[in-house]
Amino acid sequence: METVVSGIRPTGNLHLGNYFGAMKNFVAMQQDFNSFFFIADYHSLTTHPHPKDLHDTVRQVVAEYLACGIDPEKSTLYLQSDVPETAELYLFMNMLAYVGELERSTSFKDKIRKHPDNVNAGLLTYPVLMASDIILHRADKVPVGKDQTQHLEMTRDFAQRFNRVYETEYFPLPTAFNFSQELVKVPGLDGSGKMGKSEGEGNAIFLIDEPAAIRKKVMRALTDSGPKEINSQKPEVIQNIFLLMKLVSADDTLKFFENAFNNCTIRYGDMKKQLAEDIIHFTTPIREKVNAYYSDAAYLHKVLAQGEEKARASAAKTIKEVREIIGFRKF
Ligand code: ADP
Ligand code: TRP
Repeated sequence: METVVSGIRPTGNLHLGNYFGAMKNFVAMQQDFNSFFFIADYHSLTTHPHPKDLHDTVRQVVAEYLACGIDPEKSTLYLQSDVPETAELYLFMNMLAYVGELERSTSFKDKIRKHPDNVNAGLLTYPVLMASDIILHRADKVPVGKDQTQHLEMTRDFAQRFNRVYETEYFPLPTAFNFSQELVKVPGLDGSGKMGKSEGEGNAIFLIDEPAAIRKKVMRALTDSGPKEINSQKPEVIQNIFLLMKLVSADDTLKFFENAFNNCTIRYGDMKKQLAEDIIHFTTPIREKVNAYYSDAAYLHKVLAQGEEKARASAAKTIKEVREIIGFRKF
């Protein structure tokens, strides 16, 4: 059976981009794959969160993952920091990663640009830690959004380098995965290309947003004065609204507005009203479950303890074999 691994950093609430980029696919796969999903809390240390904030956010995101449908009976749901084998593999893999290739990664260059005052070594080696998360369970598939393509390429490079250096085929070369064949990029509402929690105010719709907040954000989404010619090309901001509608609305609804766009009768106000209601319809059951999970500390504890045990068993096996391959052998 193939193995699937994915994780999300606990840096804020889940939004529609996280859901459609990563979570939805993971949930669909957990039945048929050997599945691991983790809260990437080691990764979140690059921005030095306050200990209390880190702890609170982790609890919140665990509740959100469960509400999205991660089933701890089918998947191993664990906290990255509960599995220190991750850090040991990260150490080994750092010896195989070149500073030059890490410096060239687009996410690193992006981070330097956005936070020139905090260019720590952990940021540089972020792709090595991510690769370690994945190969720790010898994963084949990784459900993530389109923005993670380069990280997955680097993961394959590191895994392949390990295999070459140690003359083995120990690690499979994992690929980014989405059932729709193509990786997904969910657009933001402010005209920026990507929905993300660190983008501007109003860009992202969070799964726990109340209906009033969702209506407000959607109604403020950028549009323009409308098409002037029959069957014209959609400008990017308009494409974005259609992309969101494709994710949450019924096919008929989408078709109705496509036709209205093509024959220039579209009213973006109406379209956004419909989109807001369809998002609310989609997120409401999730939002209602988040609160129930969040308040059940005993259940959260049990789920994570069980996840820790299963993840450590898998990780310990890999580490034992990797140590052997590397030459750390008993006399
Ligand atoms: P953010 O960009 O909000 O900080 P993360 O970087 O923590 O989100 O992403 C966690 C997961 O969600 C990754 O698999 C990422 O590819 C996916 N993801 C985040 N934003 C989007 C988006 N707008 N479209 C598709 N997938 C996304
Ligand atoms: N880098 C991913 C992100 O920013 C999070 C992540 C860390 C991850 N380790 C991973 C995703 C392993 C998949 C598998 O979204």
